[in-house]
Amino acid sequence: MTTTRRGYTTGELTVHRSPAELNKITRTLRGAGRKVVFVPTMGALHEGHRELIRHARRAAGAVVPVVSIFVNPLQFGPNEDLARYPRPLEADLAACREEGVELVFVPEVADMYPEGAETKVHAGPLGARLEGAVRPGHFAGVLTVVAKLFHIVGPDVAFFGEKDYQQLVLVTKMARDLDFPLHVVGVPTVREPDGLALSSRNAYLSPQDRERAPTLHRALKAGAGVSANGPDAVLAAARAVLDQEPALDVDYLELTDAELGPPRVGAPGRLLVAARLGGTRLIDNIAIAL
Ligand code: PAF
Repeated sequence: MTTTRRGYTTGELTVHRSPAELNKITRTLRGAGRKVVFVPTMGALHEGHRELIRHARRAAGAVVPVVSIFVNPLQFGPNEDLARYPRPLEADLAACREEGVELVFVPEVADMYPEGAETKVHAGPLGARLEGAVRPGHFAGVLTVVAKLFHIVGPDVAFFGEKDYQQLVLVTKMARDLDFPLHVVGVPTVREPDGLALSSRNAYLSPQDRERAPTLHRALKAGAGVSANGPDAVLAAARAVLDQEPALDVDYLELTDAELGPPRVGAPGRLLVAARLGGTRLIDNIAIAL
């Protein structure tokens, strides 16, 4: 391993800590005709992240796969899990190496938010609903860091999981509204065999709660199964499954169109759920054809 003040190289993978340095390298690569494909993460990489990286590597052309690993303090509320969020950097770098990532960006908080940095991206009304209603300020934190990462990395294409569906919709909208010259691609959720959506936070679940957690996906599937009967039937079927698990404290169950507006019969829809199980907050969603 070669270590420098700014970063280090391990095998085929180069790890950068400095935003300016990473920006210089990706600009040079783009100038040489390579396409930069980007997967932003907070680390604790699991199969869902690996799937994002695989999608990125399959993009057409001579691609440079770039992954960022940064636990973004701006998107955590005061009583959330910032301090205990898992940070297994060596395992994450090994996963990146296995998946053929070329550049990993691992900035320090002070590199991303130097003293005096106060400007934020406002997420608009959509950022205040669903997750935003339960976690005020969360999406301003997400969009601010994603905007900064887009500027630093300069990707041609960026990949986000559908698991965080509202985040995917908001990032897509931000890229359009603020003229980022890139494509945002959503990648389907990766699940455990019992249906639980993969998430770094699943590690917090007690064994009993881990058994209960797939109820969320079961509820979504029950809703999707009666989509031909209309929005009320979808919500009632999903709610009936959630009600069977008293340990679940449901934050919301909502049916929307694919852009998170009101559901429209004949248009693609989305059924979204968030619930607490013990001290762990779980979210999930499913496509609905109304
Ligand atoms: O989805 C995540 O892991 C984070 O919200 C993201 C997009 C990396 C921004 O910190």
